[in-house]
Amino acid sequence: MPTPPADALAIVDSRPLQEPGDACHFAYTDTSGRAGRGVLMRVDDHTLVAFDDHCPHWGVPLGEDPSRLFDPRDASVVCAMHGARFDPRSGLCHTGLCEGQHLTRFQIREGPTAGLVIVKRSGLF
Ligand code: FES
Repeated sequence: MPTPPADALAIVDSRPLQEPGDACHFAYTDTSGRAGRGVLMRVDDHTLVAFDDHCPHWGVPLGEDPSRLFDPRDASVVCAMHGARFDPRSGLCHTGLCEGQHLTRFQIREGPTAGLVIVKRSGLF
């Protein structure tokens, strides 16, 4: 895997993410030196999203198995701890104990070779 550019959190291989809801974790270190973990997820044929693996309810990871974060019945990201449901495109919690709060979304752009995406911090919505 190439070294991420200075303004990037990570470079992630999106090629295994072929179906809606396919997701993987990635590790990053922010500008303060804090280690974190993100999620890269395919929403549809043309859309990938990335967000911090951090539920706004209790501040814990959304789940240890990224393949189980997406519920295709309503196309939501679901926190494994208490079942809060989030719109993967906006990050908004629309159902659950942190309703109205957001996942921290990251910007993504194409990476140096096909299938690789560069994840950048974009802040809150
Ligand atoms: S920690 Fe995610 S819903 Fe409670």
